Amino acid sequence: MSAGVLRTVKALAWVVCAWPGADLFYNTYWGDLGVNPVETLRLDTGEAALVILLCTLAVTPLRRLTGWNRLQGLRRMLGLWAFFYALVHLALYILLEQACLYWSDCRLSLIVDDVVKRKFILSGMVSFLAMLPLALTSTKGWIRRLGKRWQKLHRLAYLAGAAGVVHFIWKTKVPEPKPYAYGAILVLLLLARVVIAWQKKRAAAARNAA
Ligand code: HEM
Repeated sequence: MSAGVLRTVKALAWVVCAWPGADLFYNTYWGDLGVNPVETLRLDTGEAALVILLCTLAVTPLRRLTGWNRLQGLRRMLGLWAFFYALVHLALYILLEQACLYWSDCRLSLIVDDVVKRKFILSGMVSFLAMLPLALTSTKGWIRRLGKRWQKLHRLAYLAGAAGVVHFIWKTKVPEPKPYAYGAILVLLLLARVVIAWQKKRAAAARNAA
């Protein structure tokens, strides 16, 4: 894959990632978010965060499968988009569901209570907190500073994905197939990662034996 093709793929991926946000913004402006606008905003930002997070986790297996090493350049951008939607999703929860529009109205204890009482909120928080250090250390300076530890830190992305899927499953009162489909995709991506790690180990052992 040439640098030009990568640039085109990146531009396309950027537009696809920006689409759900632009769509929500447009529909908010025109008052076209359905009967429950707050719920629409919350659900759509949550789903965008999870889908883009799964796409981020798919980059490495796809790179190994196709041999297009430059694809790795997509990971940071996708991860940051996933974090962006998760942040907006959390902000909507704090501002609208917890009625925290003004600092004086904010009751941190009510948010903590909700996290403790509703297990689906707790899993959402775990997913968000797992994404936070990845977003904060995504700059070139941090990547250099952390070296090998940065790769290890990135295992948190799987925790974020798993907690995100559990959050979606626990959120649905009536069982629906979508969260389980996302769960199945996550399991496949995890398996691919295990196979890649095993192949790397075998190649290293073969090199050492030679
Ligand atoms: C930061 C803490 C989080 C809180 C407090 C939170 C809260 C919520 C709430 C209140 C809902 C809507 C429930 C309903 O209206 O029935 C929801 C739905 C959802 N959230 Fe979160 N969430 C959090 C983090 C996340 C993260 C990090 C992800 C993704 C990785 C995520 C993905 C989802 C999904 C996929 C849905 C369901 C969307 C749908 O039904 O279409 N959430 N969340």
